[in-house]
Amino acid sequence: MRIVVMVSGSGTNLQSIMDAVAEGSLPQVEIAAVGADKPCTGIDRAEKAGIETFLVQPSSFENRQVWNRALEEQIASYQPDFVIFAGFMRIVDADLVKRFENRIVNTHPALLPSFPGAHGVRDALAHGVKITGLTVHFVDSGVDTGPILAQAAVPVEDGDTEESLHERIKVQERKLLVKTIAELASAA
Ligand code: GRF
Repeated sequence: MRIVVMVSGSGTNLQSIMDAVAEGSLPQVEIAAVGADKPCTGIDRAEKAGIETFLVQPSSFENRQVWNRALEEQIASYQPDFVIFAGFMRIVDADLVKRFENRIVNTHPALLPSFPGAHGVRDALAHGVKITGLTVHFVDSGVDTGPILAQAAVPVEDGDTEESLHERIKVQERKLLVKTIAELASAA
């Protein structure tokens, strides 16, 4: 099974997928990484691991529409079975989502449908929830609204900051993302 992992940030989710492939717990999974912006630790991790890595930067294109088409073609050129948004912080357009319909998997650091959007951890903390968590879901035309594949609960601890809570969520997220990819691979 071939997957393209889209990253914008520290890339620890990507790292967990690469580690799982390297240690044999994701057999027959081939990975390529795609980023949109530099600097990006996630892209650095991919290059260091020697996996195919592509950078499709919006600033290299005349407008966002043209960038979306270039990103779409770059992803398609790898002929992926699935596209994994692992902390990809750029919004892609409906045509790109349609091209890979029901094959784009996203991780979101909150228990959807609660706290969608770019600040799920901060919003949950601000709301005063005692339990939050993460969601792995298929991407549809909405923002964080696609069919849910897996979730895990993470308690909020006294004194938690957005960073400490997000790090605790990411520990569970990395495990659940790899587990979900393994399930998709076995079902493919
Ligand atoms: C993850 O928590 C993901 O849910 C969110 O951004 C974070 C990415 O972390 N969208 P990393 O770049 O994989 O370390």
